[in-house]
Amino acid sequence: MGRYASRNDEQELALQQEYMKKAVSYVADLKQQLGRQPLCCVTTFGCQMNARDSEKLLGILTQIGYGATDEESEADFVIYNTCTVRDNANQRVYGRLGFLNSIKRSRPHLKIALCGCMMQEQTVIDKIRKSYRFVDLIFGTHNLFKFAQLLVTMFENQEMIVDIWQETDQIVEELPVSRKYSYKSGINIMFGCNNFCSYCIVPYVRGRERSRDPKEILQEIERLVADGVVEVMLLGQNVNSYGKNLDNPITFAQLLREVEQIEGLKRIRFMTSHPKDLSDELIDVMKQSKKICRHLHLPVQAGSDRILQAMNRRYTKEQYLALVDKIKTAMPDIALTTDIIVGFPGETPADVEETIDVVRKVQYDNAFTFIYSRRTGTPAAAMEDQVPETVVREGFDKLLKVVQDTAKERAALLQGKVMEALVEEVNEQDASLMTGRLSNNMLVHFPASESLIGRLVQVSLDTCHGFYYTGHVVE
Ligand code: SAH
Ligand code: SF4
Ligand code: F3S
Repeated sequence: MGRYASRNDEQELALQQEYMKKAVSYVADLKQQLGRQPLCCVTTFGCQMNARDSEKLLGILTQIGYGATDEESEADFVIYNTCTVRDNANQRVYGRLGFLNSIKRSRPHLKIALCGCMMQEQTVIDKIRKSYRFVDLIFGTHNLFKFAQLLVTMFENQEMIVDIWQETDQIVEELPVSRKYSYKSGINIMFGCNNFCSYCIVPYVRGRERSRDPKEILQEIERLVADGVVEVMLLGQNVNSYGKNLDNPITFAQLLREVEQIEGLKRIRFMTSHPKDLSDELIDVMKQSKKICRHLHLPVQAGSDRILQAMNRRYTKEQYLALVDKIKTAMPDIALTTDIIVGFPGETPADVEETIDVVRKVQYDNAFTFIYSRRTGTPAAAMEDQVPETVVREGFDKLLKVVQDTAKERAALLQGKVMEALVEEVNEQDASLMTGRLSNNMLVHFPASESLIGRLVQVSLDTCHGFYYTGHVVE
């Protein structure tokens, strides 16, 4: 106990603030050299936790004097915050690095940095050292808090800087953050994962589970609310085990009760819930809550007990379905979403039928379906019976069709209802429309003024377009 308990390392914070001051002068020099403000581009791969980390990176970069751009070709500093959960995430990074190399040839002062989960793998580091020598800085998931220091080291050296830690128990709070949205924000409540699902690389690249101190979390949310945030998303790989290894243990449900009390906060979401740890207390807190959204992401991964066991998920199909029943009985209007993997070693077409059966029984509002990707170092990678691609494809396509059909059926049920939407942004295709998000996470597009962004409005759901609605604001 205690080793992984959170402690805000104030000494480290002070040190990083010193490095930020130093970095400011390097960026000012660069500005003079270029005759304009230097620009940075932060590109995120992967999950919401990486997205939040990117906001921290951008927070520091803007603090030290960079402007932000989404265009890599006009940036003076490009950083890729990488994901390695499936191989296609890795391949995308390598592909784009090739493109960056061509930009760097015409803009030699361009600095390139890589960080995130993929960098925690030794084979990746070896490959970059060998084949992508133009990269300037590489760091991992455990030392992101010393980004300012790493930048200074990069400015002071010509060769590639590589700094990867295997593990950390440090949590450094209150570094600058540059939020993507003014009205909503992710909040890390824990880092790492202890579950070791046999296919998954996350525990190896994100380290052991560490919970943040509840007081720090609540204070951060209070600050965000004071700054205009109305919706928070509490983030962790398995939020249901939040708080268990704190010096003063607290449950996730208790944390939610506290977050609910924060005045001015309108909506609470969280991700991800592991079915094995979802407590009755949590269902009760959700049911009573006025702020927790009517949406639960509850990854099932597979429907066959044999596969679930081989995946080390620690529940059976029956237990999962019983849990879903309990949740739906308590909250009939809840939207359920899930993650599913097809093609885990040894999975047969009959096993995929079990998964399809779960989808039919649960009636998910949405499901993210993935083809199994062999991750080096995980137990599943060493299993025999890796499934041939053509067999996987067939099962995948069949599953996807059921997922889409049930999701459409679920969406159609809301036809004509008036529901509360948080106005999020101008519609990407039609600038006369605004896009809002319902409590159940569904999107609705409607004519409204841009000035409503960040506000909650009542919207009539007029026309269902499969997975989303168009509608109008009801006064
Ligand atoms: N902590 C979360 C999930 C994090 S990863 C949870 O347990 O629910 C997000 C999703 O990626 C997982 O739910 C899983 O469906 C998928 N995934 C993880 N490893 C994978 C692999 N090796 N191949 C294919 N999909 C994978
Ligand atoms: Fe991966 Fe399982 Fe942890 Fe989720 S709970 S991050 S799937 S090991
Ligand atoms: Fe990817 Fe890392 Fe998230 S591997 S899914 S970015 S925790």
